[in-house]
Amino acid sequence: MPLVTTTEMFKKAYEGGYAIGAFNVNNMEIIQGITDACAENNSPVILQVSKGARAYANHTYLMKLVEAATVNYPDLPIALHLDHGPDFETCKACIDGGFTSVMIDGSSLPFEENIELSRKVVEYAHAHGVVVEAELGTLAGIEDDVVVEAGDASYTKPEEVEEFVTRTGCDSLAIAIGTSHGAYKFKPGTNPQLRFDVLEEVSRRLPGFPIVLHGASSVPQEFVEKINQFGGAMSGAIGVPEDQLRQAAQSAVCKINIDSDIRLAITASVREYLAEHPDHFDPRQYLKPARQAVKDMVTHKLVNVLGSNDRI
Ligand code: G3H
Ligand code: 13P
Ligand code: ZN
Repeated sequence: MPLVTTTEMFKKAYEGGYAIGAFNVNNMEIIQGITDACAENNSPVILQVSKGARAYANHTYLMKLVEAATVNYPDLPIALHLDHGPDFETCKACIDGGFTSVMIDGSSLPFEENIELSRKVVEYAHAHGVVVEAELGTLAGIEDDVVVEAGDASYTKPEEVEEFVTRTGCDSLAIAIGTSHGAYKFKPGTNPQLRFDVLEEVSRRLPGFPIVLHGASSVPQEFVEKINQFGGAMSGAIGVPEDQLRQAAQSAVCKINIDSDIRLAITASVREYLAEHPDHFDPRQYLKPARQAVKDMVTHKLVNVLGSNDRI
């Protein structure tokens, strides 16, 4: 089937008490690993592309690779989404260029400016059959080239969400409840706790409306340990506990973003492979297990965290 929007996916996810995984893609092996897992587990999926991914791989290459996945898996619902669209022009380029969903990230702007920018994107997107995710509240961590220190992050204010959604006309809303971008989310030894009270108040004010969680990688310690065992130096890499993500997936949260866990799975696999085969130099030899590592990690998320398996 052709690429789909997230409308139907989110409606079913909301009603079914599960979430759709939104996985960042940057190359062929990542797209194959994710879609192999989703097809095998009958899970709809969102493949998302950041500004950095478009700069790295080029819009057309990513578009054609994702189209190849739709041909390879004709029964798999796939939405292609712009992650953290920084401005109207980037959103427009993705809408014109075949994406079915875009995010406009005005979360660092003052409230009125965020509304104005998001509304402008919504108007253009809806006129072209594309859906829009907007954001209220700021996450800590790194996204593209923007670093937000933990102290500068702020939880979404529930009293602002109705006005924001009504005035922008956005189709889903990313909120800040304590998740964070990157592999170094929390201080080692602390007990990360998402603000479910904020999530509950937001969903009470927006009944039936799809909520999005960014910064939701759990940073599996087996990957960090393997990276360190085979020559890496990652200390204090801590993610969001998966039981809290599972709880979020059963609520109004319909989309959960995962990127860092993909990177960790690949890096752990490649480091291990090359350490154990120092004479190998064919990229296919080490990218094959790396692609399988992405597939295994995504399978785990679909079945044990998101609950989106067997939903097609
Ligand atoms: O939230 C940001 C995503 O992890 C994308 O990361 O900008 O390095 O592609 P990137
Ligand atoms: P992670 O860094 O936790 O994987 O978050 C990814 C994300 O939110 C992409 O928008
Ligand atoms: Zn994000």
